[in-house]
Amino acid sequence: MFTERWSPRAFSDQPVTEDQILTLLEAARWAPSASNLQPWRFIYGIKGEPEFDTLLSLLIPFNEGWAKRAAALIFVVSVKSFDGERPVATHSFDAGSAWMSLALQAHSMGLVTHGMGGLEFEKAPLILGLNDNLKLEAGIAVGYQGDPATLSESLQKREMPSTRQPLSAMAFKGKISG
Ligand SMILES: Cc1cc2nc3c(=O)[nH]c(=O)nc-3n(C[C@H](O)[C@H](O)[C@H](O)COP(=O)(O)O)c2cc1C
Repeated sequence: MFTERWSPRAFSDQPVTEDQILTLLEAARWAPSASNLQPWRFIYGIKGEPEFDTLLSLLIPFNEGWAKRAAALIFVVSVKSFDGERPVATHSFDAGSAWMSLALQAHSMGLVTHGMGGLEFEKAPLILGLNDNLKLEAGIAVGYQGDPATLSESLQKREMPSTRQPLSAMAFKGKISG
């Protein structure tokens, strides 16, 4: 599943149900986190409903251009502190593990996901009701994979699984070297 999952930008018109989105979030809910604090929050919108348009308006234009065809959008938010004093040092790391659970759950259901860091971070807090204790981490476009022909020519060229650096470039025994 690790090598089969990838992030298309072309989505079909096939809708997703709220139950499907809640199944993805249920998978995310079971992600591990430091001290089991679960410092993640999810905001979602389903195509055809006003929440989708709100989330879409918070994507940078590049992402909005293709993600408007997604069947749903999910924003991942992390909680910086639960008592206003001690920070949750791993809030972003933990939210990242929740996103990966969500992505793999989607893959197992025949859905595709595409993470997006290109968001309107300045506009978002007011529109999404985020206070200073909440950090907007990323958006996720969700849906069924579509025909690449719906994309611009330049994006069609990028519509394929990508490679990775070799393990030797990132795995070190004992200390980083090289
Ligand atoms: C946190 C995060 C932010 C990303 N931001 C964007 C983005 O703003 N726009 C975009 O088109 N792709 C974005 N991507 C997709 C990545 O470029 C993609 O996951 C990466 O190239 C690996 O490809 P794969 O997911 O198909 O294996 C993002 C992915 C992640 C995980």
